[in-house]
Amino acid sequence: MKKKELIGIAVFVVFCLNALSCFASAGHGHNEPKKVGILLVAFGSSEASAQVSFENIGQKVKKAYPDIPARWAYTSHIIREKLAKQGKYLDSPEVALAKMLDEKFTHVAVQSLHTIGGAEYHDLRKTVGAYKIMGGFQKIILGYPLMSTQKDMEKTVDAILKTLPKDRQKNEAVVLMGHGTHHPSNAFYAALMFQLQLKDPNIFVGTVEGYPEVGLIKELMLKKNIRKAYLVPFMSVAGDHAKNDMAGDEEDSWKSVFTKAGIQCIPVLKGTAEYDPFVDIWVGHINGPLSHFQ
Ligand code: CO
Repeated sequence: MKKKELIGIAVFVVFCLNALSCFASAGHGHNEPKKVGILLVAFGSSEASAQVSFENIGQKVKKAYPDIPARWAYTSHIIREKLAKQGKYLDSPEVALAKMLDEKFTHVAVQSLHTIGGAEYHDLRKTVGAYKIMGGFQKIILGYPLMSTQKDMEKTVDAILKTLPKDRQKNEAVVLMGHGTHHPSNAFYAALMFQLQLKDPNIFVGTVEGYPEVGLIKELMLKKNIRKAYLVPFMSVAGDHAKNDMAGDEEDSWKSVFTKAGIQCIPVLKGTAEYDPFVDIWVGHINGPLSHFQ
């Protein structure tokens, strides 16, 4: 095909896409009054302690952006089903956005409460992308998860150092348990450990489902003659992974693996969303999308 023909086709495609988006946004014209909203999106949790941290996040968002209504969505189907049986109905991001469209929001900042930009974050990106193509909102933008930029990494390191278990001595380890993923963003965990160890060489970061694995963390601690370790979830909520994979009594739990290697373990069952220094990072990220709504 000749270059001229290609350009002709490209122009035609762009014309069609424009026509489509005009059609899709019929009834949501740009003359509608501007209505800005926030959608907070978490994986979700059915734990009572998690509800407290989500409420804390909600209050912080209200304080930071008092004039902007915020809605919630949980990505986990299983958790939404579990909560529905208790009479608590939470929306998926797709449904929550449809409702916001119905409420005539024109600009939506979708804020991920994920830890890294992994598989779930990218699923959320797809949902936001679909609403962009559909054209109902004038603007819909997704905010970064906890760790995205180098600045975020530094803030996260600070948040971890600020929230270390109080009784911990410098020669004792703190082992953070991240979720881990097959997604390329899994590299954030090892990067975090590197940056933490520049400040405190006895802090380790492992993951349940990715790299670094528990066996490697054990080796690293043994090399340093560590005899005692605080096990801390590096997940927004201290849910199933924290209770069972980290602090459980089964043979393959982190507590069992380390104890067997002669390292005394003290599990701390609190998620990052329970601590203000982490919540502040997420809440601050809403500024990203909002700054494009001026
Ligand atoms: Co999991």
